[in-house]
Amino acid sequence: MTNRIPLAVPDLRGNEGAYLSRCVQDNWVSSAGPFVTECEKQVAALAGRAHAVASVNGTTALQLAMVAAGVKPGDHVVVPDWTFAATANAAHHAGAIPVFADVTEDNWSLDPAVLEAILRDPPGRIAAVVVVHVLGHPADVDPLLALCEKAGVPLIEDAAGAIGARYKGRPVGGLGDLAIFSFNGNKTVTAGGGGMIVTNDEAQAKRLRAISAQARSGAEYQYDAIGFNYRMTNLNAGVLLAQIERLEEMVAAKRRIAATYDGAIAGRNDLRPTPRAPWGESACWLSSVRCGSQAEARSLVEHMAEHDIEARTFWRTLSDQAPYAHAPRRLTGVAAKLSGTVVSLPCSSSLTDEQQSRVIAALAKWPRKASR
Ligand SMILES: Cc1ncc(COP(=O)(O)O)c(C=O)c1O
Repeated sequence: MTNRIPLAVPDLRGNEGAYLSRCVQDNWVSSAGPFVTECEKQVAALAGRAHAVASVNGTTALQLAMVAAGVKPGDHVVVPDWTFAATANAAHHAGAIPVFADVTEDNWSLDPAVLEAILRDPPGRIAAVVVVHVLGHPADVDPLLALCEKAGVPLIEDAAGAIGARYKGRPVGGLGDLAIFSFNGNKTVTAGGGGMIVTNDEAQAKRLRAISAQARSGAEYQYDAIGFNYRMTNLNAGVLLAQIERLEEMVAAKRRIAATYDGAIAGRNDLRPTPRAPWGESACWLSSVRCGSQAEARSLVEHMAEHDIEARTFWRTLSDQAPYAHAPRRLTGVAAKLSGTVVSLPCSSSLTDEQQSRVIAALAKWPRKASR
């Protein structure tokens, strides 16, 4: 039995086992079944949307969202430079070229001034813009929506880790033209692996459902497009439904954990909290701290490992990495400053007070460096 405290592990203390057994008993284990339908209904309601379409993971959900939004091969899709690779990879998988845009100092998400400049002088046809709700904290969506509406470009929310967050009182996932969630194992709510696209447009939802299942157009082997095999299985949906039943409790635990860390580092000059904008209620997916440099972030991760605690440096910018070295970009230097300096701390919703106290005690022992 290890004493190691993990970063973010699934919290499976609800009906997961019972629902998995039911899948086996009822012989519904593949990519159709009552749990898939129920999860779609519940996630749509959580996001304040009319429709939700389940998929195998968040990356495919993003790709499907882009295709449904009208992204065609050769188009451009604006994505933040500071995000998980999946955001840009999904654009590539949809046949598009990602255009990397910088983020804001104050909430670390897509900078409206940068987006405006790209839309004014685009490198090609901009077919979609993706805003990411970083670390489960809502981005400031209204200025981005205004710019997208003016330019006639759909805004897609990458709410991969942000289920349960609210923006000006409205649920994240219900703000842009379309939105996606991820239910990967490290998310607050997991399906093992899974994703969901939400939209208010019935025709779009119908199209999404069809193209995610090979675009079959009839009971026989007939097709009206080149589709994908991206449907979530009923097994994954069984786990997801059990997780959704405990969403409120798990988000509340995440928020408590984040607030405790914020309190523990208050007054330190070597560790800063992540942004908390007054117009948003974060879902606090990953509790993180910002270090003064990449070297300090690495030192913190190593220090925690010496105390049997898993910590991990968060995203690095994508535009300077080999796969995207030649992609178009408009950068201001903010993402470059953030890159590799944010460290995520143990924050599973099942984290005990005793475990968090151990993490905080280890943080207190990390050498204070007056780096700013
Ligand atoms: C911002 C962002 N977008 C997309 C994804 C992709 O989701 P998945 O891992 O379910 O494919 C993730 C996953 O962590 C993410 O953090």
